[in-house]
Amino acid sequence: MIKTICCIGAGYVGGPTMAVIAQKCPHIKVTVVDLNEKRIAAWNEANTDNIPVYEPGLSAIVAEARGRNLFFSTEVDKAIEEADMIFISVNTPTKTYGVGKGMAADLKHIELCARQIARVAKTDKIVVEKSTLPVRTASAIKDILDHTGNGVQFQILSNPEFLAEGTAVADLLAPDRVLIGGDTTPEGQKAIQSLVDIYANWVPQERILTTNVWSSELSKLTANAFLAQRVSSINAMSELCERTGADVNEVARAIGMDSRIGSKFLKSSVGFGGSCFQKDILNLVYIAKTYGLNEVADYWEQVIIMNDHQKRRFAKNIISTLYNTVSGKKIAFLGWAFKKDTNDTRESAAIYVADDLLSEQAHISVFDPKVKEDQILSDLNYLETRTDTENKKGIVADENPYSACKDAHAIAILTEWDEFRDYNWQQIYDGMLKPAFVFDGRNLLDKTELEKIGFVYQSIGS
Ligand code: NAD
Ligand code: UGA
Repeated sequence: MIKTICCIGAGYVGGPTMAVIAQKCPHIKVTVVDLNEKRIAAWNEANTDNIPVYEPGLSAIVAEARGRNLFFSTEVDKAIEEADMIFISVNTPTKTYGVGKGMAADLKHIELCARQIARVAKTDKIVVEKSTLPVRTASAIKDILDHTGNGVQFQILSNPEFLAEGTAVADLLAPDRVLIGGDTTPEGQKAIQSLVDIYANWVPQERILTTNVWSSELSKLTANAFLAQRVSSINAMSELCERTGADVNEVARAIGMDSRIGSKFLKSSVGFGGSCFQKDILNLVYIAKTYGLNEVADYWEQVIIMNDHQKRRFAKNIISTLYNTVSGKKIAFLGWAFKKDTNDTRESAAIYVADDLLSEQAHISVFDPKVKEDQILSDLNYLETRTDTENKKGIVADENPYSACKDAHAIAILTEWDEFRDYNWQQIYDGMLKPAFVFDGRNLLDKTELEKIGFVYQSIGS
């Protein structure tokens, strides 16, 4: 039976996942380690409202388990040595250099973890891939671990994470399924069972699915590709709706009632963001290409092409509607995070829309309930379209939504935060230049109400 767990990587997955395991398994000691000292210090903040990942319900779980059987530390070697089971939950971003640049997953952090485990481990370990990885990564990890020469036995499991940000805690407490892939050998099956036993503390047995390692690894990429494909499909329809008088919300409802299609993940938007959809599909495309499966690669790549188009056309529409120029005009952004209820901004559509508008010399003021100015600037600087100083001239964050919108020519809704609905829209209208435009990239607001106030209101897909 597993008594000690180490998780390498205290990010958006490692932190919440381990907090829930610790809460549900008080008999297991869980230590989450990371190289990033600042991040670990934040996980150890006395006030759990200041932990580095904002997720509804997470701070209470951390408050309950931390110091009891949940620990955050930078002592990676020590935690590896103590653990019976090691989760690898480090980032696997798209490669930014060399072969596969811009497509393949960068596995350098994964390899470093494997080498560190190989160096430090003195007793047998089960190593669990929690990060999202290209199919067949387990064999590379095994290669490294099997060459330690110290007789330590390793089993490698794939246990991809399906949580979505903003609902991480709810997803972890009641997952649709938990997927565990392992070797078909008796030792592999035993390792699988030990991980099944952990989840069985709170997840019904019928929701715990076991497969071979390759199916598990590939299922994760497949799930994200299918989910993203639905968003790109409805977004493709949104553009057609705008030209034909159809309304994408009505179309989504009509098709979603077909039980074969289902109603979820059909919300048309300014484009999907987040750290994973794009990276995982690019990775899938790259894998398909390396096997010479060009039709498969092209098929999935189209999901990304469509998404890029959706972000671009949102920005273009703002420019053309504002009489073909936004130069010197104030545009207020409500929302910067890639979706509501998270402080994560990775690949947020807002970044790309802002980039396009800044290139047209707009002045942007941003209000997001959970994102601060330094993050916004760092997101834009990362694109390297212009210097930090130029970005600072073009964009500011405002702590208050009303002052963010004051004297603006237009408002763009980039994130679907619930609170945006409840604002005093009459007050916002009164403070704006006229005509006062709202470009609702999330179809969040009430068109009739806004038009009654006097706004020129445009949404996606109608
Ligand atoms: P993240 O960037 O938030 O966290 C990763 C952490 O790993 C960082 O804090 C980094 O400092 C740490 N790290 C990297 N190398 C290390 C090393 N050698 N030793 C110790 N720490 C190290 O990433 P994330 O969002 O938590 O994603 C992690 C993985 O989970 C990715 O593969 C991602 O695709 C996958 N995933 C993410 C989500 C999500 O919603 N974010 C959901 C499912 C799966
Ligand atoms: C997604 C998956 O939903 C998770 O199952 C998966 O574990 C995770 O990726 C991952 O591997 O990282 P996440 O990116 O956190 O989770 O959030 P989603 O709810 O999937 O939203 C992704 C993006 O798509 C957001 O920008 C969201 O606004 C957008 N979206 C989603 C739409 O535009 N329309 C929709 O109908 C749904």
